[in-house]
Amino acid sequence: MTLLILAAAVAASAGGAPTADLARGEYLVTRVTLCGDCHTPKGATGAPVAAKALTGAPFPGGPPGNPNFAHYAPAIAGLPAGRTAAALATLLESGAYPDGHTPRPPMPPYRLAPADADAVAAYLATLRR
Ligand code: HEC
Repeated sequence: MTLLILAAAVAASAGGAPTADLARGEYLVTRVTLCGDCHTPKGATGAPVAAKALTGAPFPGGPPGNPNFAHYAPAIAGLPAGRTAAALATLLESGAYPDGHTPRPPMPPYRLAPADADAVAAYLATLRR
């Protein structure tokens, strides 16, 4: 009986394969898509502040006074405010949230493959603000 319960627990934890997705998500965020280039604040030397990774940062430069260009990249650690992982994945696949909202430039209009978008969203959901 104990063995059966253990086997069931192992099967359940393997079912969602979260470990693989999270590792891929971390790889995509930190080495490929480089979300932190804009969403992580920079310290006095201009280097990103690791302790504040993906907690939101000003974006200097760009056309001044143009309402179609954003000068702040909001927090995405722990998911963007008020958005689900599924909604974020849709944004990263299509360039728009399910409700049609599109972030302004310089946010890149990513077109990630669905599995990659899910992995990035799952990884960001694990991060603390
Ligand atoms: C070149 C800079 C840049 C990069 C790289 C970048 N972003 Fe952004 N992002 C921005 C800016 C600036 C905004 C704000 C847009 C606005 O206010 O309309 C933004 C907005 C967003 C939003 C919308 C937040 C909301 O209000 O709901 C999400 C989600 C997001 N980014 C996720 C990501 C992810 C995930 C990555 C990496 C895969 C990434 N961004 C890479 C600059 C960037």
